[in-house]
Amino acid sequence: MTSVARHFLVIRRHLSAVPADLQSVVTSLTSHRKHVPHWYLYDTRGSEIYEEIVRSSSTYRLWNHEYTLLQTHVKDIVDKMPSARTMLVELGSGASSKTRPVIEAMLERHGALTYVPVDIAKDYIEEISRELEREYSNLKVEPFGGLYMDGCRHVASRTETKLLLFLGSSFGNVPVDEQLPMLEEINAYLTAQDRLVLGLDMNTDREAVIRAYVAEHKRCPWLDNFVERLNKDFDGDMDKMAFDDTVEFIENPADKDTPSYVQQYLKSSTMQRVHLRKLGLTIDFAAGERLYLSEGPNYSCKYSEYQVRHLAEKSNFAVEGFWTNEDAKYCVVCLVPNNK
Ligand SMILES: C[S@@+](CC[C@H](N)C(=O)[O-])C[C@H]1O[C@@H](n2cnc3c(N)ncnc32)[C@H](O)[C@@H]1O
Repeated sequence: MTSVARHFLVIRRHLSAVPADLQSVVTSLTSHRKHVPHWYLYDTRGSEIYEEIVRSSSTYRLWNHEYTLLQTHVKDIVDKMPSARTMLVELGSGASSKTRPVIEAMLERHGALTYVPVDIAKDYIEEISRELEREYSNLKVEPFGGLYMDGCRHVASRTETKLLLFLGSSFGNVPVDEQLPMLEEINAYLTAQDRLVLGLDMNTDREAVIRAYVAEHKRCPWLDNFVERLNKDFDGDMDKMAFDDTVEFIENPADKDTPSYVQQYLKSSTMQRVHLRKLGLTIDFAAGERLYLSEGPNYSCKYSEYQVRHLAEKSNFAVEGFWTNEDAKYCVVCLVPNNK
């Protein structure tokens, strides 16, 4: 038996000891292009740190841009929708901190509202849901802890008209070649009354983008948390100090339809071996070898207006609203399914 075949046999034998939701982490860590699924960065602590960073960063301004755009334009969106039996669904809801203006506009219009936040960080969104219900008396929150498309399938048969939010440029973390199929599948679950609202990063200024992704205080607490999670989940001994956080900006990689993107990875500073004792697995890193923090090449996409409109058109959505902030670094887009 070759060493590669032996390696896969070991992985298969030990996978059964790993909870189903973590099996893809093992597969990705041991694949030829070592990586972790992007969602693995968001356990409860990861989600808390993410929220702290996006709310306080002076270089990563997405939160402020998107919050302002939503506050300004949410009424345009809500007022165009039917007035009765409407529900709010949000993919990758996290702290739901930018959702508040939307909840308030919908409560004002409908009097009562059901909100379904969908997020892989199940414990975190359950806590956030309880907070929201305490804050808004006519709001019913039904959190769904799981992957984006499982959440879409979960609400697909609901008969209420849906306003589906996908904020924080989270769509830009989806592997670039899965973005169009994902929009097509979302489209298939929606009716002509429903709306999909996407928030997308449009910042393509190389220096500003790199500045935004490089940790302000040298080490990124969010990525350190990821290493701690990995060690906890798999009884591992990965040394976070032996990896450097590296950011690259890849401009218009393939053609004019493909967005530019940030690539982020941990680079092994030396030749080293990481043990995942729970799996009986060792993972060898050569000096300089990368551990990518996303399934696809893109950690985070940066779109032009043309690319956003093109994606919408190809996935059979009409653009009902397209709003950008003053320096066009961020957009909020309201999409309606065509031909239904
Ligand atoms: C970039 S953050 C955005 C959070 C929040 N919407 C905001 O705008 O600040 C992405 C969110 O999506 C969740 N997430 C990431 N990948 C996911 C996936 N494949 N399925 C479900 N949730 C995911 C994360 O837990 C996190 O809360």
